[in-house]
Amino acid sequence: MWQAADDETEHAVRYALDEAGYRHIDTAAAYGNEAAVGRGISSSSVDRDDIFVTTKLWNSDQGYEPALTAFDVSLQKLGLDYVDLYLIHWPLQNDERLLKTWDALEKIAESGKAKSIGVCNFEPRHLQLLVDRGGLLPAVDQVELHPHLPQQAIRDAARTHGIIVESWSPLGGTSNSGWGRSSKPNTLLSDDVITAVGERHGKSAAQVLIRWHLQNGLVVIPKSVHDERISQNIDVFDFELTDQDLDDIATLDDGIRVGAHPDELNVGAPD
Ligand code: A2P
Repeated sequence: MWQAADDETEHAVRYALDEAGYRHIDTAAAYGNEAAVGRGISSSSVDRDDIFVTTKLWNSDQGYEPALTAFDVSLQKLGLDYVDLYLIHWPLQNDERLLKTWDALEKIAESGKAKSIGVCNFEPRHLQLLVDRGGLLPAVDQVELHPHLPQQAIRDAARTHGIIVESWSPLGGTSNSGWGRSSKPNTLLSDDVITAVGERHGKSAAQVLIRWHLQNGLVVIPKSVHDERISQNIDVFDFELTDQDLDDIATLDDGIRVGAHPDELNVGAPD
């Protein structure tokens, strides 16, 4: 639900659940639309227990007590008594504070109000911090990931520790995935290689990209607020990319990001 306005959000969530068959909604405190996500969920006809809701702790709330308070605020806005996954949004550049934040998430997990806890934008070094700490490891690391940025080092590190990798900006991002810096325009949806693969299967570029994530064992959370795109993006279970398709797509790996590098982003960090 990144960059989805309130009215669009409520409709998109309800449409995705009721009409298109989605069961996973990904939001964040910083997206400013948790209340609208909550309204979309409560007005849908799908049982709460059949929906997987993810939200994220914003940077300004890092630290032990601030994280506990921020989590309660998110629950209240969502109108839920638990979330399925609670994530630290960015690692920032203060390891001591980050570990205190993780202490808070561990406490939240123990309370049962978050069924699972995890992180976003963690490089292997940040994952190692949590491994060395002991205790609960993240269930998930949600990172920018698409054919231009396949993030093999993070995937290898995550696999070693049984951490699931989830792709943000899986279609190459929105017009402003940069968060605190200007981002590059999304070129994947009109990319020649992706389009040619789509033509071989009679599928759109977005559907090819979503299959690429699925066939790479990644959790994929494409963003759209348009009904026809929401429906199109889940209509991906009747075709499979071939080895040749995957080889062609692999040529797009050039390390180009649409968003910020985790080591550079410090937006909203506490003083
Ligand atoms: P919109 O929400 O206006 O539909 P990402 O998932 O990589 O963050 O990128 C999502 C971007 O791609 C959004 O700008 C979204 O716009 C657009 N988008 C999502 N699904 C499709 C689709 N099937 N075809 C074209 N554009 C899409």
